[in-house]
Amino acid sequence: MEGLDELISGGFPKNRVVLVIGGPGAGKTILATQFLYKGLTNFNENGVLVSLDEGKEHFFAEMKKFGWDFKAAECEGKFNFVDATRLSRVAILKEKMLKEETNSLRGKELQIDKLIAEIQEAIKKVNAKRVVIDTLASLFYRFLDPIERRTASVDLIEALSDLGATVLVTTELGHLGLKRKILEEEFLVHGVIMMQTLYSGGSATRGLQVQKMRGVSVNTNLVPYTIDRNGIEIFSSMTMFSQK
Ligand SMILES: Nc1ncnc2c1ncn2[C@@H]1O[C@H](COP(=O)(O)OP(=O)(O)OP(=O)(O)O)[C@@H](O)[C@H]1O
Ligand SMILES: [Mg+2]
Repeated sequence: MEGLDELISGGFPKNRVVLVIGGPGAGKTILATQFLYKGLTNFNENGVLVSLDEGKEHFFAEMKKFGWDFKAAECEGKFNFVDATRLSRVAILKEKMLKEETNSLRGKELQIDKLIAEIQEAIKKVNAKRVVIDTLASLFYRFLDPIERRTASVDLIEALSDLGATVLVTTELGHLGLKRKILEEEFLVHGVIMMQTLYSGGSATRGLQVQKMRGVSVNTNLVPYTIDRNGIEIFSSMTMFSQK
């Protein structure tokens, strides 16, 4: 991806798990999808998107707006969409209304195991080299207990490290700003990219920072990025703060 490749010398390291953290509307889904699309079109690397947020048709329609035709890629056997929306927030609300019994820990563990198996299967089908999980934050709503949540995240991230693909996992941060709580997941993954909106004098600027990327040299400056009808553009040679 233009801009991001310059921040991470040579682009994302292969066979690694990278966490993309950002608030609502930061552009996590677009960034992760752009990574998949670039793989398909520029590097002949097939992809899998695991969505916990939205169904396939909605995803196809949203991404078509950027000119990214995932439906065609699916028809060509280059792309696989894993619909995991049953684990989404909306699904949980519905379950609660239906009073379904899915709250036992055993039931939830099985759901993660099932999801991992589904992801492995989807990758095998198209021989995917790039995988996106959007978004881990959805699991937070299912696993309200911090220990359960930790176990689920660890299981999932461990399984993802073992897939032979480069994996981007999106997640949310409770509160934005430069002072923040570190998410436990950040220690488990190989790389962390942070997307945030900074406010100054009534104007807002989007900023991206590669916080860590094990084994490669990275530029950890907070740099501006924009979102437009072509997707995300990262201005890697600029910084958000002028040097004095
Ligand atoms: N064509 C466009 N031009 C400018 N901005 C756009 C365009 N399309 C989308 N955006 C911006 O992109 C953002 C949404 O991006 P995206 O869905 O990737 O965010 P997200 O971080 O995944 O959000 P969520 O937490 O809701 O999943 C919105 O803030 C929207 O304003
Ligand atoms: Mg999103």
